[in-house]
Amino acid sequence: MAFRAPTQRAVAALARKSTATTAVKRTLSSQATASSLSQPTKDAIAREASLPNPDPAADSASAAMVKEHSQYMLATYARPSPVFVRGEGSFLWDLENRKYLDLTSGIAVNGLGHCDPGVARILADQSTTLMHASNLYYNPWTGALSQLLVEKTRETGAMHDAATVFVCNSGSEANEAALKFARKVGKLRGGEDGAKHEIVSFQGSFHGRTMGSLSATPNPKYQKPFAPMLPGFKYGTYNDVAAINDLVTDATCGVIIEPIQGEGGVNVATDEFLIALARRCREVGAVLIYDEIQCGLSRTGSFWAHDHLPAEAHPDVITTAKALGNGFPIGAAIVNESVSEAMKVGDHGTTFGGNPLACRLAHYTVSRLADKTLQKEVLAKEQLFRQKFEELRGKYPELITEVRGRGLILGMQLTQDPNPIVQAARERGLLVITCGTNTLRFVPPLTITGEEIAQGLAVLEEAIEATR
Ligand SMILES: Cc1ncc(COP(=O)(O)O)c(C=O)c1O
Repeated sequence: MAFRAPTQRAVAALARKSTATTAVKRTLSSQATASSLSQPTKDAIAREASLPNPDPAADSASAAMVKEHSQYMLATYARPSPVFVRGEGSFLWDLENRKYLDLTSGIAVNGLGHCDPGVARILADQSTTLMHASNLYYNPWTGALSQLLVEKTRETGAMHDAATVFVCNSGSEANEAALKFARKVGKLRGGEDGAKHEIVSFQGSFHGRTMGSLSATPNPKYQKPFAPMLPGFKYGTYNDVAAINDLVTDATCGVIIEPIQGEGGVNVATDEFLIALARRCREVGAVLIYDEIQCGLSRTGSFWAHDHLPAEAHPDVITTAKALGNGFPIGAAIVNESVSEAMKVGDHGTTFGGNPLACRLAHYTVSRLADKTLQKEVLAKEQLFRQKFEELRGKYPELITEVRGRGLILGMQLTQDPNPIVQAARERGLLVITCGTNTLRFVPPLTITGEEIAQGLAVLEEAIEATR
């Protein structure tokens, strides 16, 4: 494991080599003497010995499985070679039984850690009780989850007039719903001719991959292959207060914004900007949507990331997903009274959204994540990250320029491509991800311990050092 002293690691690497079926081992056995080893083989041996978790080799069981499966999997993501088979708390294990400390939590999803026993118990129980009966009928859990989300949202002061909830299956779907709600409100406020139909979003944002949420995601990498985007989408500059009045006009029916941009590089909206934006939305009668899919549900140390804002900055819709099901797919749009009143039976729907299995799980997850002690601990854990980040910034000033974020959504801005560090960390048993432009992103389980943070950041330092 990555967290042993170097000598222990070398011993562990040797021990692993005695059982592992690596290319190096086979090559070794086919060589008559050590002196006959080729330079690439010697290099491979040195590398293997120096790395606690080298990526699975080309002839490993992992590589064989990936080769077999990938031909049937539509291309979506570029993935490294480990195949993850098991998770517990802050850790993952791969097919080669290598252990990794996970500072990604499935991209800010496993807030309660991997395979939380409570989540697993609820899943097992509800799966033998009722999983799905469709939205044509009532069940006990869609309403219970909706009530909990509304109550927690009001209680935390994030949306004083939170009223009802639409439950769906993902973040994109929650945003898609919110955009449709804004269009409907626009029709009611601006007339049936659709004059009030424009949606405003911001550079650097990520709102999803469906055509509506993608149209609100002004990133050429994601939009270009699927152009043209839907009509009526406009893009502004994040945190540009002066530009708001020209950007949001009488033609605007909705504005969607992440209070903290996740994919865009962990960029934090200023309070001044969010207040001015909300004020302008009220002036022109536009629906304000806060996309809290990545930054919400206590990741910043408060239930919603914008909890501290005054009532005048409250949104009309909050979208959530990711941590809501702790790994089980579910999303939701929490809407205020005026948006709720605009939506009528038959306007919108989904087959799976709100099924009792997902909703009971989310009800349990939200109850746990809303805990004030957990939130306080998130802020304490942020300080552990920040202290070490400052130390690293002092040590590598040419590499690390800034640390952004709040709670346990943190971004370390680098001056160069972070991918070599990501790989070096992974091969030492630590998972981190990137975002934005040259940003390392840290979104660990909220339940991570102080000791695990210290261990992980020591490995990060080793990984940075190894890539210098
Ligand atoms: C802020 C934000 N909104 C929306 C989405 C889309 O969510 P999903 O991938 O569940 O569709 C994401 C996903 O990364 C996100 O971070």
